[in-house]
Amino acid sequence: MPYYREDLARAHHLGFGAHADMCAPGILKFLEPVLAEKGLVLEVGCGSGLLTRHLVDAGHRVIATDASPAMLELARGYVPDAEAIEQLEMPDARLPKADAVVSIGHVLSYLPDEAAVWRGVAAVAQALRPGGLVAFDICDLEWGRARQGAPVQARVSEDWALITRFSMPVPAQFVREMTIFTRNDDGSWRRDDERHENVLIDTSAIPEALAKNGVDAVVGGSFGDEVLPEGLLTVMGQRSGS
Ligand SMILES: C[S@@+](CC[C@H](N)C(=O)[O-])C[C@H]1O[C@@H](n2cnc3c(N)ncnc32)[C@H](O)[C@@H]1O
Repeated sequence: MPYYREDLARAHHLGFGAHADMCAPGILKFLEPVLAEKGLVLEVGCGSGLLTRHLVDAGHRVIATDASPAMLELARGYVPDAEAIEQLEMPDARLPKADAVVSIGHVLSYLPDEAAVWRGVAAVAQALRPGGLVAFDICDLEWGRARQGAPVQARVSEDWALITRFSMPVPAQFVREMTIFTRNDDGSWRRDDERHENVLIDTSAIPEALAKNGVDAVVGGSFGDEVLPEGLLTVMGQRSGS
């Protein structure tokens, strides 16, 4: 698993909580029927538990999963009251059955190629119990078009700094090269580098892919009233049956 080693995982947890905070109200509203039935929520790519915290605080039973050991360690500290926090690598891991599957932060866009993304979409659908709900976000091809030639970005905090360069080797791949500096206890600084490759897809094909797996879904621009970054689309759906 090449993504989110210790230093970047920590910077994500400390500096990038806004997305989960924005998405939480719409997702919580959507999941109200699951909460009423005390159903089980499976979170895929929970990271450090930023959305998990909202779900558990609202009373949900959550199995939170991610591929990154460093993210999972943070999540165990941040949401100790989750039902379970487990390592699970998409798209081919066996997913536990659940009454809802949620995933934010374009986790499925992290899969190695487009075929893997479609396997991930199918796996999410197949994990749902009859009547189960699904909500996730994912990068469309528009994500890349909107960021062509995007300048270098920097985030600076007291004890970490993150510099990100963007590129698009091909129209369906968005690359972020990240250099993370972290202050050591003795005041010196250490450096780590991560290259994140995201697959961009035509998200208009998602409803058909989910329908083949018994899920009726729509692609949209938000989970609720929040405004998401351009090209990041939401998928919300329900498995047939009850
Ligand atoms: C941008 S972060 C979002 C984390 C969290 N959902 C949030 O919103 O704060 C993407 C997450 O996807 C996870 N991830 C990447 N590839 C994955 C895979 N193949 N299986 C499961 N998780 C993966 C990463 O470890 C990381 O935690």
